[in-house]
Formats: sequence, structure tokens, C-alpha cells
Amino acid sequence: MVKHILLTGGSGFIGSNFVRFVFNARPGVKITNLDALTYSGNPENLADLEHDARYRFVKGDIGDAPLMERLIGSGEFDGVVHMAAESHVDRSIMDAGPFVRANTLGTQVLLDVLRRMQVRHKEGKGPPPPRFVYVSTDEVYGSLPLEDKSQLFTEETPLQPNSPYSASKAGGDCLVRAYHHTFGLDLLTTRCSNNFGPYQFPEKVIPLFVTNLIEGKQVPLYGVGANVRDWLHVEDHCEAVLTVLERGVSGEVYNVGGNNERSNLELTHAILAIMGKGKDMIRNVEDRLGHDLRYAIDASKIKRELGWQPTRSAWPKALEATCRWYVDNRKWWERVKSGAYREYYERQYGTR
Ligand SMILES: NC(=O)c1ccc[n+]([C@@H]2O[C@H](COP(=O)([O-])OP(=O)(O)OC[C@H]3O[C@@H](n4cnc5c(N)ncnc54)[C@H](O)[C@@H]3O)[C@@H](O)[C@H]2O)c1
Repeated sequence: MVKHILLTGGSGFIGSNFVRFVFNARPGVKITNLDALTYSGNPENLADLEHDARYRFVKGDIGDAPLMERLIGSGEFDGVVHMAAESHVDRSIMDAGPFVRANTLGTQVLLDVLRRMQVRHKEGKGPPPPRFVYVSTDEVYGSLPLEDKSQLFTEETPLQPNSPYSASKAGGDCLVRAYHHTFGLDLLTTRCSNNFGPYQFPEKVIPLFVTNLIEGKQVPLYGVGANVRDWLHVEDHCEAVLTVLERGVSGEVYNVGGNNERSNLELTHAILAIMGKGKDMIRNVEDRLGHDLRYAIDASKIKRELGWQPTRSAWPKALEATCRWYVDNRKWWERVKSGAYREYYERQYGTR
């Protein structure tokens, strides 16, 4: 079992859930969270753990090679879980630069640190490089047809990313593959479907729609809402990542999905019903450029080989619980929507 994990991007949605999940599931494990605190990184997500002896926060950018060298090269971690990324497709359509810098080049910086550690270790001059899990996305596979539901993404599906976001993530996937193949580093990749749950930045569809409805605003639905996504509860994803870190086979890729395909229209109707609102609250907006039609994951490999199963993603219960979290935690998302959360971290960690 790993003892001390370096988590990149731990102040974001999945990262903050991962910290909580690991502390509950493995009370003896320590986590250092390295996060640049971009707009989607919010230390308030983990404010209650700030004084927990198992938790340490380091503000920094994965692209900062000297800092990564000092941090990872110290040898204090036996596992790295790499989640830091620019994560919003719409923003990547506006400007791909930050995506390539963080998702592709940032991943390369981390891999190069591991490579240098390996060289020093072989010369008897330092600790071995830690195991490294790259948290990727099903979006690297591109899009499936809407009509043929038998088609699913498997780990053998070719990478055919369609958005600047997924292209920049696929760049990371290719580098992880290449550094394992070329140098024999202990690297693994997970490719997960759409996550939902607490602490998701309210630019993403579920928290955006729920918080808009609480505020009495309409929900903006792309096109006619035909696009299909496979929804997985964030804690199921966290469990899958921990499982791969602990028991995955070096160099392997693992798909992670909820077997829970819903069209955006179906999702919208479900949220409206949970929130007690009518269809008049839908505002159809122009479709996203290059909008992928359907993502659907075949997660049989991780189930078969590592025994992972999604246990928290069943609808409508899991969606209801998530909507309720945003109803009950109004202060959290109001501070995010208003920008007040930035004051908190600027006070704590200085201006970016
Ligand atoms: N949200 C999903 O549905 C989903 C699905 C599959 C995979 N993923 C992947 O999971 C990971 C986490 O996604 P999320 O939804 O939590 O994203 P998020 O945007 O909520 O969080 C990303 C975090 O990374 C940090 N970050 C960004 N650039 C950084 C940099 N250069 N250096 C250090 N930290 C940086 C941000 O400050 C933020 O805390 C991403 O790699 C994403 O591609 C997400």
C-alpha cells in the first residue's frame, strides 16, 4: 500500500473528493496536494482538512520544473496521482494555449522528473521514482454514433480527440505511454467518463443547472440536448484511481465508467424534476462547436482485472443526492459564482 501520495490538482473538483475519499478509505495515508490554484482550484473545498496532520498543501504549477524536481525528487512520495489540468471544453475552444501548457507540457515536466530520478537511482545516487497514475478522460477517444448503442470505447479504441481540451489530454496519454515504453517507468493511465458530485465548479452542466434553478434562472441547453454522456459519481472515480494506484499493472490503461448513459435532454429533465421546476426553465442555446455526440465506456477491464465496481452512481438516487448537496451548500457555490472564493486564497497564499 502507498504511504504518501503527491496529488496534483487536489484543490479542484475530483482532486478534493479524492483527498477525502483516501483519508476515509486509508486513514494511514498522507497526501501532499500540489495545485496552482487556477480559477477552478478552490482551497475552500478542503478547508476542514487544512490542519489534518496527514494533509499538506503546496501552491505551485506542474510546469515549474525546478519546483517539481525539488518536490518529487525528494523521494518522499511512493505514489503520484496526476489530476492537475485545464478541464473545461468550452474554455479550450476560446483559447487552447493554457490547455496545451498544463495538460500536455505540464505532464511532460512531471515525467521528466521521474526519468531523472530513475537515472540517479540506477547510479545509486537517489530514491527510485514513484508509481505515477495519469488521470485522463474518455474524451481522448473522440465521439461515438448516437444510433448504434452497441459501440463502446475500449482501451484499444484509437485516440481521436475532437476538442482542444481532449487533444491536450491525449498529448499527456501519448507521453505516458512513450515514457513507459522507452524508459520502463512505472506509469498507468485511467480514462474516465463524466463525473458528478459535490464541489464541482459551477460552469459544468450539473452544478450550473442546479444553481441556476435555485437562483430562479433558466438553464442553457446546447442544441436540442441530443448528446449522450456516461455519468459516474466522483467517489466511484476516486475509488477507481486509488485501485489503479494500488493494484494496476504497470504501463496499462484502465477505462472507468458508470454504465449510465443519458442524453443531455434526459439529464436536464431529471434535474428539473428533482428541483421541482417545469420545462419552461430550459433555454436552448447554440450548440458547442464540434460537440461530440456520444461517449460510452466499456469498463470491463478494470472490473475483471482489479475488481472495481461503481457502487455510488445509480440514478436517480445519486443525482438527487448531488442536487441536494448544492441546495444545502449554497454558501460554497455562491462564493464561487461571485468570485469571493478568490479573496480567501489570495489572503492565504498570495495573489497569483
Ligand atoms: N470532471 C470530469 O468529469 C472528468 C472526467 C474524466 C477525467 N477528468 C480529469 O480529471 C482531472 C480533474 O478534473 P476536475 O474536473 O477535477 O478539474 P478541475 O478544473 O475542477 O480541477 C483542476 C485542478 O487543477 C489545478 N491546475 C490546473 N492547472 C494546473 C497547473 N498547471 N499546475 C497545478 N495545478 C493546476 C486547478 O487549480 C484545479 O484545482 C483532469 O485531469 C480531468 O481531465 C475529469
